[in-house]
Amino acid sequence: MIIAPSLLAADPARFGKEVERANRSGADWLHLDIMDGHFVPNISFGPEVVRAVRSLSKLFFDVHLMCSRPEILLESFAAAGADEIIVHVELGEQVAPLIWKIKSLNKKVGLAVNPPTAIAEIQPYLDQIDLLLVMTVNPGFGGQSFIHECLPKIQQADAWRRERKLSYRIGVDGGINFQTAAECARAGADAFISGTTLFHARSLRTAVKKLRQIAHAHDPALADLKM
Ligand code: DX5
Ligand code: ZN
Repeated sequence: MIIAPSLLAADPARFGKEVERANRSGADWLHLDIMDGHFVPNISFGPEVVRAVRSLSKLFFDVHLMCSRPEILLESFAAAGADEIIVHVELGEQVAPLIWKIKSLNKKVGLAVNPPTAIAEIQPYLDQIDLLLVMTVNPGFGGQSFIHECLPKIQQADAWRRERKLSYRIGVDGGINFQTAAECARAGADAFISGTTLFHARSLRTAVKKLRQIAHAHDPALADLKM
């Protein structure tokens, strides 16, 4: 199970301190949301911020590009210290060259699917990705409510993974709290990206631990073992 606090929900006036808090939290990854004001109606931060916080952390950096033209940004984010770069399947015919480019930069590849987009769009790329990211809100802002209609996509992604004996992770991003994480774990998710629930908790460390316990408790693979 991967627990990934999303920096978008941290206090931007104290990003350095917030990343140090994430370092001490027991989290596995730090999720960094990059918004270009075009693919989504919001702007977050760019490669210089990623580079600055990279120097403060050994966490795995999961960089989520919500950008219309990621091809012009991949090299900058790779050089800034991304470990994985996520692009969106909504970019259509750009997706295949983007995956190739991310791999050629020696970074792990994530592919995200927005709530209105069919999960079938991801199918051609399943054997080329490290993470399939099911967006459980319409991207652009933290603090939104989880969209339950996305749960069957997680089940489908998990079914494909078994059928084809693939090992990509299934991530969920948006509105993940202690309750929705349980629902996602039951459906087959194993990477939990969470901004508001983790960074706004009084103790980030306690919140990460609790989210991990809940994800484990609802993991169907572990339930099989118990039987
Ligand atoms: C949504 C972003 C998410 C966001 C999640 O556009 O991709 O990563 O930070 O935030 P919460 O957990 O607050 O919904
Ligand atoms: Zn994200």
